[in-house]
Amino acid sequence: MRQAVRLALRARGRTSPNPLVGCVIVREGRVLATGWHKQAGGDHGEVAALRKLGMRAPRATVYVTLEPHNFHGRTPPCTDRLIEAKVARVVVGMKDPNARVDGGGIKQLRRAGIEVTVGVLEAECRAINRPYVKWTAQKRPFVTLKAAVTLDGRLAARGGDARWVSGELSRIEAHRMRDVADAILVGANTVRLDNPALTTRLASGRGRDPKRVILDGRLTVPPEAKALPGALVITTRDSDPARARRLEKRGAEIVRLPGRRGQVDLTALLDELGRRDILTLLVEGGGQVHGEFLAAGLADELALFVAPKLIGAGGVPLIGVEGPAKMADAWRLSAVSTKRLGDDILVVGDVLRSD
Ligand SMILES: NC(=O)c1ccc[n+]([C@@H]2O[C@H](COP(=O)([O-])OP(=O)(O)OC[C@H]3O[C@@H](n4cnc5c(N)ncnc54)[C@H](OP(=O)(O)O)[C@@H]3O)[C@@H](O)[C@H]2O)c1
Repeated sequence: MRQAVRLALRARGRTSPNPLVGCVIVREGRVLATGWHKQAGGDHGEVAALRKLGMRAPRATVYVTLEPHNFHGRTPPCTDRLIEAKVARVVVGMKDPNARVDGGGIKQLRRAGIEVTVGVLEAECRAINRPYVKWTAQKRPFVTLKAAVTLDGRLAARGGDARWVSGELSRIEAHRMRDVADAILVGANTVRLDNPALTTRLASGRGRDPKRVILDGRLTVPPEAKALPGALVITTRDSDPARARRLEKRGAEIVRLPGRRGQVDLTALLDELGRRDILTLLVEGGGQVHGEFLAAGLADELALFVAPKLIGAGGVPLIGVEGPAKMADAWRLSAVSTKRLGDDILVVGDVLRSD
């Protein structure tokens, strides 16, 4: 199963709205074939592995990270293919939370006389599919707030200069994060001040650009902004139509959502992105946007590149909204991990909900 998890991860960022699935087929202690789900619409993990065996695997044991599906979707049911292949046993990492499966695949296999074991390395299998699990339940993307900060928690110097806060290794890692995100979001000020391209630039040249999303309540980003072509510009229902047309001419799609006082309601934004099959959203700032996501309880994870620098008062704060009055009410992280990247430290943790 550990190998199946590793295989599944090869397709990170490529399968939405589908889950990551890896599969290893074994007989008498020998691996016969492996496979993984490479992209939505393509073979599921089990079928990718079975295909290498001519769709026949009599008496074999199939290790698969997620319950095989039993309905006709974009591809025929994997359960039917396993039954036809005459496998003896299926070991499942986790049940598929999709209401159309939800244990039905396991039941069908058992009815066909196949031995099924469920919950092997379940925590690992669940961990690789957190965005899928969240989207399946809430139809909203998994939200990661990502930023580079100085030791005193600043995103940029006084006046907004942020090139660069972190070191080269951190910036390479940040592009890896973009490569596996379905969408990336920034606030209008970041576009105005930094004019970022918001593309994925990996040394291999094989990076995939996430969908660009710009939060711009008053439509003030300049039409020549590098990030605009192909971007979603999220604005309120009453923002200026003439400005909207100028941005549309540059290839942006204007999305008007409900909100108040020029501020789009972020839950409506996540619902909209979920409808567009976006399972992972990387929020790249700036401070006001990070603060709004935290304050609204809509951030799932924080990834902070901390650089050994100090910029002092006047620098742009990581969290640009007022915080709680008591330390006891601070926003907290759990399941924290750290990684050294040159002189920087990457801190990643789950944002704990206050409710
Ligand atoms: N170190 C890093 O990792 C990093 C990353 C990103 C940015 N930065 C730095 O951060 C600074 C910018 O941060 P910032 O806090 O000033 O601004 P920001 O968060 O980038 O953008 C704030 C603006 O976004 C729009 N916006 C925010 N929430 C909205 C909502 N709910 N609905 C509609 N529009 C919304 C508003 O535009 P309107 O007021 O026009 O409506 C708001 O003024 C820059 O200096 C940049 O260099 C650093």
